Amino acid sequence: MTETVLLVGGGGREHAIARALADDCELYACASNRNPGIGRLAEAIELVDETAVEEIVDYAEEISATLAVIGPESALAAGVADALDEAGVYTFGPREEAARIETDKAYQRRFMRDHDVPGCPAFETFDDIEAACDYIDAFDGDLAVKPAGLTGGKGVKVIGDQVTKAEAKAYLREESYDRVVLEERLVGEEFTVQALVANGDVRVTPAVQDHKRAYEGDEGPNTGGMGSYSDASLILPFMTEDDYAAAIEILQAVVDALPEYKGVLYGQFMLTADGPKVVEFNARFGDPEAMNTLPVLRTRFLDVLTAARDGNSLPELHFDRKATVCKYAVPDGYPTEPTAGARIAVDEESVGEALLFYASVDERDDGLYTTTSRSFAVVGLGDTIEQAEGIADGALAAADEGLRVRHDIGKHELLRARIDHMDELRGS
Ligand code: AMP
Ligand code: GLY
Repeated sequence: MTETVLLVGGGGREHAIARALADDCELYACASNRNPGIGRLAEAIELVDETAVEEIVDYAEEISATLAVIGPESALAAGVADALDEAGVYTFGPREEAARIETDKAYQRRFMRDHDVPGCPAFETFDDIEAACDYIDAFDGDLAVKPAGLTGGKGVKVIGDQVTKAEAKAYLREESYDRVVLEERLVGEEFTVQALVANGDVRVTPAVQDHKRAYEGDEGPNTGGMGSYSDASLILPFMTEDDYAAAIEILQAVVDALPEYKGVLYGQFMLTADGPKVVEFNARFGDPEAMNTLPVLRTRFLDVLTAARDGNSLPELHFDRKATVCKYAVPDGYPTEPTAGARIAVDEESVGEALLFYASVDERDDGLYTTTSRSFAVVGLGDTIEQAEGIADGALAAADEGLRVRHDIGKHELLRARIDHMDELRGS
């Protein structure tokens, strides 16, 4: 039987999901923008907000969807997975309650503490901003200041790294968040491990390193992610097999405590001198990390979805032993003052052997337009990170005026600096 899959979301991550599924099923999508990459792979795109629960369920029924996959956290937070499940469309994505592991950072930390999930930094949660400011004053050391709700990866301020104590307090008073988490500042190298989870099974994918800062050399404000790389093995050059195993143990502990979890469980880790600590969990593929992972997944992604739905054990995952480097082109001014609505041209010919993933662009009758978020990404695959980097960087000739990229992602100097940083922290 041919499966009919509804994909929710219209960014680069969802273009990568669409590419992983399109040959094996009838694919439809719901998104607030017309992503031309998804447009070419899907039978149709329904233009609807990713959080519009009723419209999405209506559309799933109209196309007789047999499965659904959710890309963005906003849809999970809105309860789209609950509603689709209840309408009889099995959805690879957690229900609203389980997605709190991402959508509520205070819940996430308490969950880790209550279930003895390893890798939890020391933390306190506050409903009263003035009490949080007093805590910052009294605390001897640096803290990470985190709004409890979703902020697109841009709400966290790290004292001693991005801001001073005074700036952190001013930020909290200005934004008047309802609840914040203050936690021990973790020092080390960040990496991501994503797992496909259902029926209690945890199937892990290769480690990836994203680059959150807007500018080269890890300068500037945090973004949704400017680009990312993975190696031909499961680990990254600055980590050991044991570090990877410790990260997997953490993901497994989460699923053991949340046996009903289904979908992608994304662990963001800080590799410290004492091993991996949890920066956060996400309840969906990373963007850009999905673009590193899905192109090297040799196991059919559709087989994971059907096994999940049918209550079967998930298939073991196999990967091409290729390194990947992903680089995003973003609108000028992103993330603080992005120029939305600018017309851009992407020269698909000049991408060469790299993969091209469209992101938050809108295809209209007269061309392609930027939104306030990332525009498109290129992914190079190679035997080494350096080879993959060369392919990705070469492909960035496709980036038009009005777009900006971080050329340094995946380059030798940056990789070397990561290795030296870990060596220094570990005193070796
Ligand atoms: P999050 O939204 O929790 O992923 O945080 C965004 C970014 O803030 C992370 O990718 C880290 O770079 C940084 N960050 C978050 N928590 C901490 C922490 N406890 N120590 C140091 N940096 C952190
Ligand atoms: N790349 C970070 C995220 O998807 O949250």
